[in-house]
Amino acid sequence: MTLTQTAMDVLTQNDRGGFTIPTKGLYPYQWNWDSAFVALGIATYDMDRAWQEVTSLIEGQWPDGMIPSIIFRSDDPDYFPGPARWGETPGPIPSTGISQPPVLATVVRKLSEIDTQQDMLRLMRVFDALYRWHAWWHDMRTVDGIVATVHPWETGRDNCPEWNIGLEAMQSAPDLAPYTRMDNKHVDAGFRPSQEQYDKYLTIVQFGQSVDWDQRRLTDEGPFLMADPNLHFVLLRADQDLRAMAISLKKPQSVIDQIETWIAKGHAATNTIWNVQLGAFTSRDMHSGIFSNGFSNCSALCFYADSGTEDQRGKTLQHMARVARQVDYMLPSWDPEAPDFEAKRYWCGPLWPQMNYMTAIGLSEQGHAAEAAQLQDDLCRAIEKSGFWECFDPITGEGCVGAQFSWTAAIWLSWQHENKLKGAA
Ligand code: GLC
Repeated sequence: MTLTQTAMDVLTQNDRGGFTIPTKGLYPYQWNWDSAFVALGIATYDMDRAWQEVTSLIEGQWPDGMIPSIIFRSDDPDYFPGPARWGETPGPIPSTGISQPPVLATVVRKLSEIDTQQDMLRLMRVFDALYRWHAWWHDMRTVDGIVATVHPWETGRDNCPEWNIGLEAMQSAPDLAPYTRMDNKHVDAGFRPSQEQYDKYLTIVQFGQSVDWDQRRLTDEGPFLMADPNLHFVLLRADQDLRAMAISLKKPQSVIDQIETWIAKGHAATNTIWNVQLGAFTSRDMHSGIFSNGFSNCSALCFYADSGTEDQRGKTLQHMARVARQVDYMLPSWDPEAPDFEAKRYWCGPLWPQMNYMTAIGLSEQGHAAEAAQLQDDLCRAIEKSGFWECFDPITGEGCVGAQFSWTAAIWLSWQHENKLKGAA
């Protein structure tokens, strides 16, 4: 069987009827940015089902505009923290109380450009939901001019060492309700976050519940608040895609003007996460102002957002060249020269497919074809060597954590499809 056929089988096996889970066992629900990438993969063979992935995700949107990180359509005893631990949430379907990187508008734009007439109609139906979600980020999560996050899980980069600054500055709740982790029952505990980190993650969840998931209060009064290059650049890119869609749908000028304001605000905020000492974009604690101190796999997303100065971009490329000398498979999630780099521990080192995908798009759009090709080739080599894993050891290319993983399969399909189209042109 070809890898392309296997990739389609992975997505079919993870289909739960209108939405796709990331992987069996470890992640049994619909995840926000996972579904966006999944839609791209499914679009290579079934446009209707690809759009359904988008609309099923939007079904979970809260009245305040947030699209949550996980939608709990059932209660799976094998997953923690499930719906009971997040408590009562205001959305139409039980969910978490935080969001995830808003890559959806960028994906929707791509889907709407694949087919013509019919996809414009579909786009019309989802545009308002996307617009309201972007407004939510700007209204509910902006601090000192930049979008920030209240929980490491919201960034999609759960236990990246970048979050240690914010986590170490907070206390675990003394009255933290007891719990049993499930994640380390499905996979090797050595791949997963530590117990102390887990207590802090749940302390933030407990705080969210204590303010009835009032998102502005969670941002302003919660125990954790950090700016993240992933959220910042993904949103800034997605705002630009949203503007393009608003124009093609002939939305009122006031809507276009509003999006323009968000984009201008985003570009102005890029400097807030420029770590001068390191010469790279890094996370930053918004309570203390302290920067994290390593080059991560979202540091080079400035290209994807078409943001940052020439000097900043040049230094970013130099870091990439340095990192490339340390690993065989670009792009590791954490700086291989940092003391807390761990090649197999989740966001402390492994290569993540969706990050390679976005970073490669940005590099290629901004004229850095060789660097973009390396990110694509390295991920494809890792897949050829090991299969469709959640992430990969960047030194050996071995697969880590979840197997038969949806976004890895989807990105493979999307690239194969695009390469075929380029070959035919
Ligand atoms: C992990 C990842 C996150 C992803 C989720 C489901 O929590 O860190 O980015 O969305 O798994 O795949």
